[in-house]
Amino acid sequence: MTEAGIWFGVDYYPEHWPKSQWKADVKLISEAGFNVVRLAEFAWCRIEPSPGRFDFSWLDEIIGELAEKGIKAILGTPTAAPPPWLVKLHPDILPMSYQGHRMPPVARRHYCPNNPNYLRATERVVKALAEHYKDEPNVIGYQIDNELSLGDEYCYCEHCVQLFREWLERKYGDIDELNKAYGTIFWSHEYGDWTEIHPPTPPFDRCNRGLALDWLRFRSESFIKFLELQVGIIRSVSPDKKITTNLMGLFPGIDYYELSRLLDFPSWDCYPKFRHVDYDPAWVAMLHDATRCMGRDRSYWVMELQAGPTDGYHGHPIGVTPEPGELRKWAYQAIAHGADGVIYFRWRTACFGKEQYWHGILNHDGEVNRRYLEVKRLGEELEKVKDLVAGTKYRSNVGLVFSYEALWSTLIEEGYYTMSYHDQVLSLYKGFWLHGINVDVISPNEDFMRYNVLLTPFLYLTNRSLITRLKKFVYNGGILIATARTSVKDEYNRVHSDGLPGGLMDLFGMKVTDYTCLPAERRASILMEGRVIQAVGWLEELTPSSAQVLGVHDYEWLKGRAAVTVNRYGEGYAVYVGSFPSSDIANHIVKVLIKRGIIKPLVRVEGDHLELTVREGSHYRVVFLINHEGRDKSVKLYFAKAFRIKGLLKGGTSHGDKHEYELELGPHDAEILYLEE
Ligand code: GAL
Ligand code: ZN
Repeated sequence: MTEAGIWFGVDYYPEHWPKSQWKADVKLISEAGFNVVRLAEFAWCRIEPSPGRFDFSWLDEIIGELAEKGIKAILGTPTAAPPPWLVKLHPDILPMSYQGHRMPPVARRHYCPNNPNYLRATERVVKALAEHYKDEPNVIGYQIDNELSLGDEYCYCEHCVQLFREWLERKYGDIDELNKAYGTIFWSHEYGDWTEIHPPTPPFDRCNRGLALDWLRFRSESFIKFLELQVGIIRSVSPDKKITTNLMGLFPGIDYYELSRLLDFPSWDCYPKFRHVDYDPAWVAMLHDATRCMGRDRSYWVMELQAGPTDGYHGHPIGVTPEPGELRKWAYQAIAHGADGVIYFRWRTACFGKEQYWHGILNHDGEVNRRYLEVKRLGEELEKVKDLVAGTKYRSNVGLVFSYEALWSTLIEEGYYTMSYHDQVLSLYKGFWLHGINVDVISPNEDFMRYNVLLTPFLYLTNRSLITRLKKFVYNGGILIATARTSVKDEYNRVHSDGLPGGLMDLFGMKVTDYTCLPAERRASILMEGRVIQAVGWLEELTPSSAQVLGVHDYEWLKGRAAVTVNRYGEGYAVYVGSFPSSDIANHIVKVLIKRGIIKPLVRVEGDHLELTVREGSHYRVVFLINHEGRDKSVKLYFAKAFRIKGLLKGGTSHGDKHEYELELGPHDAEILYLEE
């Protein structure tokens, strides 16, 4: 979807405002430079006011008004909010708790994705929507549902239970195979037939590990199938319309990498300052990098970008208001990571309903305000840079593996671990982010051969195919870096019985022979190349067979034992760090990779709280530079080669003989540098 260069827009709810307001809204929307608007994702009760009776007149009208200003529409399929008449007609669409209570239909997302009545109602409304707009050029595509699986309880209705049993039967074929895979002899759980199986209930740490993991897989697949139903309808009616859905970063409910295979491109909802006053911009960056890599061709959108203070948290009635510059900066951050579209949530703040304080660009009064003027300025800037930027791609030689299966396996465990799976992935990611090195955050099913360096932090669970592919990657010359608790579990969520890292001892040329958890109040370090590096969370004693020792523990009874090893395997190297990745460890890894010339950064930036990414075009590159602090900054950049440089937003230039570039950034400011050799 590059016809706009960069899609720039806002989520708009015409159904929340009198019609007399629409023209004025559309005028301001257009004057801000927006070229796309998302509509109707919660408007089922207006689209189908009673069973089978459809009314698109109001939607046609607003799409027409927008089209007059050259603004396109993305339509939400409205299935995240089943209307009251549907609940009345089919109360069984409501998800059911294990105790047999139906979820009350008081908010949204009150449906079971496996309920046949819900599937029929979904088919009918999606088909009607797709049919109605199939020849409407101003509708460019669809967002399926809204934040699939958010906040839903696990549904234990008869359909879910029955389908889960069938799912297990298809997977294991024979009940004895399932018994073996799960180890159901533990606590006398051996099943005689499929109907004896009950889905596990939270907290899952008291349940059989294999059963709990299969339940999470089944639930993820249920939502993917629900999405697939809608995708199928839209594709058969209007194959030329684009299909996406709005994800939530690396939210655990659904394997987003699997889901995204069905989409033309994924998108996500980005609220940096929701609840977190001092949010970490590296976390936001990582979610951009993950969502991009979920996309089949590495293109993605932000479907909802924070546009004002969010609603309350911890006793505060509303969230912190974004400071001047932050709205603009967040959009540039998305584009810096490869987004083709950025849409703010929402246009004007609602005066009624649930989200009265989840602010849009405009406040409740609808007047032009500071935030509007900021996005309008951004709109003008994007108009100038869009062609150059759209001609480039975010590329990386470094792949960081995020495994939903490993995540789920850790979520099922007791006490979770000192650091969560997300934290550990972030910690390693951040080492690269701080050095301004592009990273792809990929699924374990990705083709590893496109990378030089593969990072697999806390890859707690593996399967046979992943083990083979990791070995192949290294054998063919790749550099693999793993951290503590790698391949502890097999695909049935059982601990490997033949030593750790399970199935990978030959790859790493060592065995984990002892370990301890490291509570936060205990300090430990690793001694490596004359340096003291802080360890966190977990320590492992590594006993090498063929590996070389790179670092040793400096901790009580583990003192002097191997903590970091490297093994030559085929043409490549497999590095193992016997601790969770502290920021110190992450930083050290990056420095060593740079020193050895394994990664070659194009540019180095001096200063704190700066983010840098590179997008590559055919004969030029663009460098994005973002100031994540609310104060002025003088910045110096050092380039690996001499470039002719032009500042696209601020207008500075340098000539071909220079390796350095200096500029001033204001609070939360951004610059895009155009580079030609
Ligand atoms: C998103 C959601 C929107 C709106 C927003 C503010 O998660 O998709 O519909 O609810 O948050 O709460
Ligand atoms: Zn159900």
